[in-house]
Amino acid sequence: MDSPRQTATGDPLESDDYELVESSVLVVGAGAAGARTAIELVEQGVDPEELLVLGKRGHGDAHTTWARGGVNGALGTHDPEDDWTVHAADTLKEGHFVNDPEKVETVTKRMPDLLGELDEWGMDFSRTDDGEIDQRYFGAQSFRRTAFAGDHTGESMLDTLVERAQALDIPYRENVFVSQLVTDDEDTRILGAAGTDLDTGKFVAFDADVVVLAAGGYTSLYHRHSSRDDENTGDGPALAYGAGAQLMDVEFVQFHPTGMVGDRYGDEWDGRLVTEAVRGEGGRLYNADGERFMERYSPDQMELDARDVVARAIDEEIAAGRGTENGGVYLDISHRDRSFVQERLPRMYERFSELGVDMAQEPVEVAPTAHYGMGGVVVDEVGETRVDGLYAIGETMAGVHGANRLGGNSLAETLAFGEVTGQAVAARLAGASESPSDGDGNSDGDASGDGDASSDRERLRDRAGRHFADLARLSDHGGTHDPETLLDEVRELLWAHAGIHRDDAGLAAGLAQLDVLRERASDLAIDDRTSRSFEFALDLGFALVVAEAVLRGARERTESRGAHARSDHTETDPDWRRNIVVERDSVGAMRVTTATPGTPSDAVQAALDAGYELDYHQLE
Ligand code: FUM
Repeated sequence: MDSPRQTATGDPLESDDYELVESSVLVVGAGAAGARTAIELVEQGVDPEELLVLGKRGHGDAHTTWARGGVNGALGTHDPEDDWTVHAADTLKEGHFVNDPEKVETVTKRMPDLLGELDEWGMDFSRTDDGEIDQRYFGAQSFRRTAFAGDHTGESMLDTLVERAQALDIPYRENVFVSQLVTDDEDTRILGAAGTDLDTGKFVAFDADVVVLAAGGYTSLYHRHSSRDDENTGDGPALAYGAGAQLMDVEFVQFHPTGMVGDRYGDEWDGRLVTEAVRGEGGRLYNADGERFMERYSPDQMELDARDVVARAIDEEIAAGRGTENGGVYLDISHRDRSFVQERLPRMYERFSELGVDMAQEPVEVAPTAHYGMGGVVVDEVGETRVDGLYAIGETMAGVHGANRLGGNSLAETLAFGEVTGQAVAARLAGASESPSDGDGNSDGDASGDGDASSDRERLRDRAGRHFADLARLSDHGGTHDPETLLDEVRELLWAHAGIHRDDAGLAAGLAQLDVLRERASDLAIDDRTSRSFEFALDLGFALVVAEAVLRGARERTESRGAHARSDHTETDPDWRRNIVVERDSVGAMRVTTATPGTPSDAVQAALDAGYELDYHQLE
């Protein structure tokens, strides 16, 4: 299996052999970003019948449900000095100034209203005694601005959005794996997408004027990761790259400091999140010698320093032999009352109780886990890629988080860019339907305004048909290698060569190993198209593209910045205040270039100059 674009070698599959589905807008991904985009489109007057939201899993089952501790927005519930400019300043500072300031402002300005809107739509936020939306501390944020629903914020948020989408009659289709985007011959304009119905094994071609990729990130491509194995496998970035879009900053991979330790709690829990809310509510980290080690690494911000700082500290304690016998450190909130722990952290309390651990009385064991890809697809201020009509939002896009993301900003980004992109796409559709007719009284109905609908349809059928012919050859194939095994090897490779600490020799060795894996991936043993092996083979195709981009970006960046820690270049180099961009060149190889990030507005610069920062000791 090769990169998602390098297909189409034989004759296309006949149109009778696949389903054709038409919509003006196809949203790929049914998590918060996809749902919020679709809601905005309908609120802007787009007929729901013009939309289709695709999910790889069942309705309402997306990685959003695993984002636990909260969603940021400067409401100032407890800290009235907070406002969107300070939120933006914190985001840029912790992103080490390689974020796109314009996108950061888009998110931080909108969030207070967007939280209010979720409240109106019935989200079960935790509340203060006065009935206001409560806000807790989260790492490296100057004020309490993380709104939450216990420790199941993502789940509550997605439930609210799905309910809203259902009330607006937005059509969803479940269990479809999109494996290629279809563009015009020059990769300058989107025509639709090609996928497989995982329930029936039938191929489906999607004819769409606009495609919005809201298909998550890529951190499940690491051996220890916080998501489930079958999500965040790089679909969004790999699909966009295959269609001719650019990727940016994918070397910035966030390792969440506190993942569950498999040797203690069982393999099925290895790497799963112990929410930052535990530390936000006062949880303390200890090594096996009983030392509260963050006093040495970050005496001012302690356990609530930025995730990269805390993750590296834990990693270093374990490497120095001060970890637990299961390979972790201790996270302890037993100094809080049981009722407090049960109320503020109900899911964590429940989960550990089921595993025989009473969090209100004893510590839990944690170690860093790959959690979020700060990099992703290059998009403009409304989420559009350089491919006309192709948008990317949520974890799939790049730009908001820079070199290190603040906890609580990922859910925020899904809402803000869902709104912005939804508005932009709605305006585009309205513009297309108002465009002059083609002379015979009919508008061609093409939202890009420069294509001809029937020749686009032919091109879509041809390209999708060729991709399906390739997929038909791939499935039921008695090759040598098991795709799941190779996928696991990619995960081991990234963990070992592009993990918390990296260096040139390790990255070069990782790239060489990836070449060998790619060779083996051309001879896979795959069952039919409803089998897990077929899905794994598609995942593997995406994984090889994204892993190469991570390794190349990390090798190129000869400095340490945020989550990118080079043991052979330990300092931050001001000349590297640049973004690393990768794209497919004319012969299909990966080209690496750089770009310069923008500068903050005067208002945000003033907040940066004021030098706000978290004062941890208020929590004690
Ligand atoms: O730790 C957490 O609850 C994660 C939140 C986030 O990544 O935003």
